[in-house]
Parts: sequence; C-alpha cells; structure tokens
Amino acid sequence: MSSLDIRKYPDKILKEKTVPVDNIDAETQRLIDDMIETMHFARGIGLAANQIGISKRLCLIDIMAIEEKGSLIVLINPLILEKEGFIEAQEGCLSIPGYMTTIKRSEKVYVKGLNREGKDFEIEGTGLLARAMQHEIDHLDGILFIDRMSPIKREFFKRRYKKFLKTATGEPKKS
Ligand code: NI
Repeated sequence: MSSLDIRKYPDKILKEKTVPVDNIDAETQRLIDDMIETMHFARGIGLAANQIGISKRLCLIDIMAIEEKGSLIVLINPLILEKEGFIEAQEGCLSIPGYMTTIKRSEKVYVKGLNREGKDFEIEGTGLLARAMQHEIDHLDGILFIDRMSPIKREFFKRRYKKFLKTATGEPKKS
C-alpha cells in the first residue's frame, strides 16, 4: 500500500464524471488499498478515486477517520436511490484544504453499490454518514462541495481562494 498525492482544486480531473468500474480485479483491489492508506494518512472521512487522479466510479467512506474500527465502507459504482429531508452543516474537502463552509444536503440517503468483493449491497445513512456519501458520490459525478454553494458565495470563494490557502491552518501551502 502507498499513500498517494491528493489532487487539489482547481485540478480538471475533479470536474470530470468518472467511469463505472466494470471489472473488480487485482488492480482495483490495489487501488482500493492505496485509497484507504491515502484517506487515513490525510485523516479524511471519505475519498473518491478521481481525487488521486483515477477517473473511476469508486469511493471510500470512514466516518471514524481511523483504521481498526471496522467502519470503512467501500462503494463501487454507487447510486443514490432515495433522499429524505434537508439539513445544513459544515463541510470540507481534502481537495480544497483549509476551507469549510455550510452546505445544505439531504438528511437521509439510501445508496446502492458494489462492495470490494463485487457483491451488491444497499446502505442507509443519516447524519455524517449521509453527508459523506453525498459528498463522495458528488465527487464521482465531477461535483465539488463549492458547486453546492450559492453563486454569490462561490464567486467570493474563487476570488479569495489563494488567500484562504495562505491562511489555512493544518496543511502547508503547496504550489
Ligand atoms: Ni471531497
């Protein structure tokens, strides 16, 4: 396993819709292992394959953000089947380090996908899990959380992002 570089906004790959995984082979298993290590190293609660430069419909969620808890969810070719309610909460993204804002999302979601063994499964999530699944599935559709802000807030974000990066704590500025 190896921890890989996370693509950062405004990298173009983050705006592209990913391609469904048609073969869960040894290469896919290696990709999943690398993504797990990358997500845990970055202390993220979710990671989509395109965030490490692989445009495949595959993401991980671990709302514990640590290993050894059995909380890891691997979602291959996920789809949201149903959504219920709305809730606003603070959100951030490993691809937009140092920036957090309030985003309105569905309160509860039902998602279907394949696990890493290639078996169909469905998962229901509320709270942070629901938010993380929506955030990661958005990534797979080429959507970032800043795309969910109001147009005025988004324009403000774009103009000020360089300044946000310079003043962000917890992550050194990368050129
Ligand atoms: Ni993200």
